Amino acid sequence: MPQQKITHLCLVKITMELDPRFAQSLVDIVAAELNKNVNITNNHGVIIASFSKERVSHIHEAAARMLTSGPIREFSVTTNDESRLKGVRQGFNVPIMFGDGCVGVIGVTGVPDTAAPYARLAAKFVEAALESNARQEKLVRALKEKEELQSILLNKIISVQEEERKKISRELHDETSQALTSIIVGLRVLSEHVQSEGEREKILEMRDLAVKTLEDVHHLAVQLRPALLDDLGLVAATQKYIENYSRQYNIPLELNVLNLSRERFRPEIEITLYRILQEALTNIAKHASATQVMVTLKKQRTKLILIIKDNGMGFNADILSGVGSDTCLGIHGMHERIALLSGEFYIDSAEGEGTVITVEIPLKRHKKAESGLGQAH
Ligand SMILES: Nc1ncnc2c1ncn2[C@@H]1O[C@H](COP(=O)(O)OP(=O)(O)O)[C@@H](O)[C@H]1O
Ligand SMILES: [Mg+2]
Repeated sequence: MPQQKITHLCLVKITMELDPRFAQSLVDIVAAELNKNVNITNNHGVIIASFSKERVSHIHEAAARMLTSGPIREFSVTTNDESRLKGVRQGFNVPIMFGDGCVGVIGVTGVPDTAAPYARLAAKFVEAALESNARQEKLVRALKEKEELQSILLNKIISVQEEERKKISRELHDETSQALTSIIVGLRVLSEHVQSEGEREKILEMRDLAVKTLEDVHHLAVQLRPALLDDLGLVAATQKYIENYSRQYNIPLELNVLNLSRERFRPEIEITLYRILQEALTNIAKHASATQVMVTLKKQRTKLILIIKDNGMGFNADILSGVGSDTCLGIHGMHERIALLSGEFYIDSAEGEGTVITVEIPLKRHKKAESGLGQAH
């Protein structure tokens, strides 16, 4: 048995009669007090209800002996002890066994025979509560570890996905677009060399198709990963995206950039805000039937804030947590990405009253989970 220090002695005074209500109140006291002492270790005892130190000091000694010398046994304080040891009341003491040893003592004052069942009951109760606390702590720890692992994996997935998009986008731009441009030029030259009008028309039709394909490829490359975001940063990429969006969907859009110039932020912050802007504006085009959209991007001391507001039909935000919420992947995705950067994400929407999405990202790095993010950029 390792050396144990008893820091508190637990005493509960009882009446001489066996009162069932007493047992209940004993249990209640133990439960209430134990909640304050959930983090019990082998070096600390349990406070349950203690009288003044002087009054318990002698029993303290006896209990300390019980804690340091094995095997642990219950012990009682008799009438003899009571008269011999000043301030000590008769009682019965039971060790609280937990883990590898004894972590405290339950002492009940009264005639030893009467006090014994209560002391044993209280000790059993404390032991059960300690077990349950330990189990719960273990579960909480396991859950936390799992959540951390999930964030790390999510981080990794996002980084790899972004890197892949960047690669494909570059390839579309550098290879496919160049090849299409050569085809377009070649077809124009060819059209000038054929004799028949019919053939020339066919070649020009093909050229128009190639021009259209080039536009599509360009659009796809920008959607995948705008080079502007990497080259000139968030503000420039946002301005460009909004300009194209407004033209494509014919929705009037106001952009306010406050307290921001063309400064650069960490790549993961820039790409996260850009992806949220993309998703939120796509949602507006898909679901909102809005006639006015306002986007605000601002820096406020230690954080970047993005607000996307529309005057469309809105929606009941309960759908996000209710049954079938796994279909709201766009919004959940925004949420997850923000959480990885220790940011805040709010949706304020009601049917018929438009939608406001607010995102706040701290500029300083916070979590362990963030450490791997952005490496792939
Ligand atoms: N700006 C908006 N206006 C109205 N409804 C919206 C808006 N944004 C999202 N919603 C609603 O929230 C749902 C979930 O959005 P999302 O998670 O992006 O999934 P998805 O776009 O694939 O349906 C949408 O189906 C739509 O009903
Ligand atoms: Mg969506």
